[in-house]
Amino acid sequence: MSRIAYVNGQYVRHGDAAVHVEDRGYQFADGVYEVCEVWHGKIVDMPRHLDRLGRSLSELQIDWPMSRSAVEFVLRQVVRRNLVKNGLVYIQVTRGVAKRDHFFPPEDVAPSIVVTAKSTNPAAAEAQAEKGISVVSYPENRWPRVDIKTVALLPNVLAKQHAKENGGKEAWYIDGDGNVTEGGSTNAWIVTKDGALVTRPAENGILRGITRAVVLDLVEREGLTFEERPFSLEEAFEAKEAFVTAASTLVMPVTRVDGRIVGNGHPGSVALRLRELFHTATDLQTA
Ligand code: PDD
Repeated sequence: MSRIAYVNGQYVRHGDAAVHVEDRGYQFADGVYEVCEVWHGKIVDMPRHLDRLGRSLSELQIDWPMSRSAVEFVLRQVVRRNLVKNGLVYIQVTRGVAKRDHFFPPEDVAPSIVVTAKSTNPAAAEAQAEKGISVVSYPENRWPRVDIKTVALLPNVLAKQHAKENGGKEAWYIDGDGNVTEGGSTNAWIVTKDGALVTRPAENGILRGITRAVVLDLVEREGLTFEERPFSLEEAFEAKEAFVTAASTLVMPVTRVDGRIVGNGHPGSVALRLRELFHTATDLQTA
């Protein structure tokens, strides 16, 4: 079976799927995106992801490419046509195709939309979670509007590549005060020696992760101690546990930061418990 992508109104073979050379996403990274997990044939937290998509679009004055319900329909179709049971579905929306010019294009230029889906291997993800990952710190290199989920990911690419070249699976951004902002494609958390979960407030410096929001719901439901505040790299070195969250990783334990062992060097019990409970707190909609 061949993979299918949705590109501007058409379902096409993934290998043939293409955007115009003058798409502003290609020319200027002038676009936004979302990634939803697909779990047991269900799209996880689609309403929250589409709320955030709407916010990203409005912050950049890009129109919805079609109605929100039509976007939902296409997300479901692409998941189904690709027979994805467990995986990820991606949506990219750009300001559309126009002659290369920095100024916004004329009003009649329609935004572009691409939706793709891929299967992932749940057993491999669980094996990774049982081992944990290493993260590598990296100086913050992004613009201040990281709350907008833009496709302009070059800074994140550089940070993550640095992490990879230094034995890590994720980069942790460090701001000018020595505090961790977030990961290259994840939100960052620690559990202190006293057992308090700590993550940075979503007001500034981070993307307001949907997985983060679900974990916050779980923290409340389970009555865990929680402090929403910045934490430093030194505090992470001393933490009992650390973990990252994203639709692509769910709750993923961190066992090393900059080569230093976190806690006892094994995935922490809080992180593993939150991972186990995760889908009990999500909105699951059949694809
Ligand atoms: N990344 N922070 C950044 C910079 C991200 O790129 C992401 C998601 C997150 C977590 O957000 P959420 O929980 O809503 O997935 C935080 C996606 C998965 C990606 O780029 O692949």
